[in-house]
Amino acid sequence: MKITLNSPLDMHVHLRDGEMLNNVAPYSSKCFAGAIVMPNILPPVTTLEELKAYKNRILKAIGEDKFEPYMTLFFKNNWTYEFLKEAKHFIKAVKLYPSGITTNSENGVSDFKIENLKPTLEAMSDLNIPLLVHGETNGFVMDREKEFGVFYKKIALAFPKLKIIMEHITDRNSVKLLKEIDNLYATITLHHLLLTFDDVAGGKLKPHLFCKPIAKRYEDKEALLELALNAYPKIMFGSDSAPHPQNKKESNECAAGIWTAPIALPALCELFEKYNKLDNLQKFVSDNAQNIYNFKPIEKKVVLEKGEFLVPEKYNNVVPMFAGKKLSWKCN
Ligand code: DOR
Ligand code: ZN
Repeated sequence: MKITLNSPLDMHVHLRDGEMLNNVAPYSSKCFAGAIVMPNILPPVTTLEELKAYKNRILKAIGEDKFEPYMTLFFKNNWTYEFLKEAKHFIKAVKLYPSGITTNSENGVSDFKIENLKPTLEAMSDLNIPLLVHGETNGFVMDREKEFGVFYKKIALAFPKLKIIMEHITDRNSVKLLKEIDNLYATITLHHLLLTFDDVAGGKLKPHLFCKPIAKRYEDKEALLELALNAYPKIMFGSDSAPHPQNKKESNECAAGIWTAPIALPALCELFEKYNKLDNLQKFVSDNAQNIYNFKPIEKKVVLEKGEFLVPEKYNNVVPMFAGKKLSWKCN
């Protein structure tokens, strides 16, 4: 059995830089037609010069593959309309991180008062540039996304024309907000469709399943599955594939991030097949994103075939999700 996906897209990926970029980017470019690339490298991508140079490094890392990196800037609250008007030619979105909440987010936002965010958000709204948000407070770890809901609501209502994408949602409360508020959209990862907190820390601690936001309760996972398997039009696939070197994961201070790039589409096929929903996969991994972002990706047919895929233990120094396990689909 085979399925052919038309231009699958990963609407949230970390490709990193330097040696890591060269190691991981080919696994995204092989099976996806394009991906929204996160700007949280060091230093974060905040200028167009940095952005263009980073894009060139990505294109070099992927070689001959047909793949478009869709670039993002790391949010700053004092950009002018003129700057963003120019930036719009080179970016698909702007990514906002609360300060210190995850990898390389120290220069993120620490004050969510509307007046503080207004110059940039007003211009983005006028220019129709989507705002991508890592939605967590620094409260109790299981409640962080729920607590951030207050800000999602506040920003969405203050800028009703601004497209706001709640990145990697993990909590039932975000599902509720998504359904209630017109200008909220969301990405969902593979791992949050598969894991609960129990899988991460209920038995022996699993550093390779540790990510931000942390996987939540069974009911949260069920609420996400309901959206993804039915390809709810306001959601799209964003892997949040986030590689770290093995020694940074298997460490006293484990870095947050799960690397799923090489296994994402096979594992999604397996999941959608299990629930008899393979017919909705095309929408989840491409069509919904095209509608939400209002764009056409490059034409690329990606064939997935039923058959054993023994996931390697590591790819150089990076351990993927499902390392050493067998998946029942593979990407040709
Ligand atoms: O687990 C995560 N890792 N969550 C994020 O939001 C960032 C990412 C990373 O960059 O490592
Ligand atoms: Zn991310």
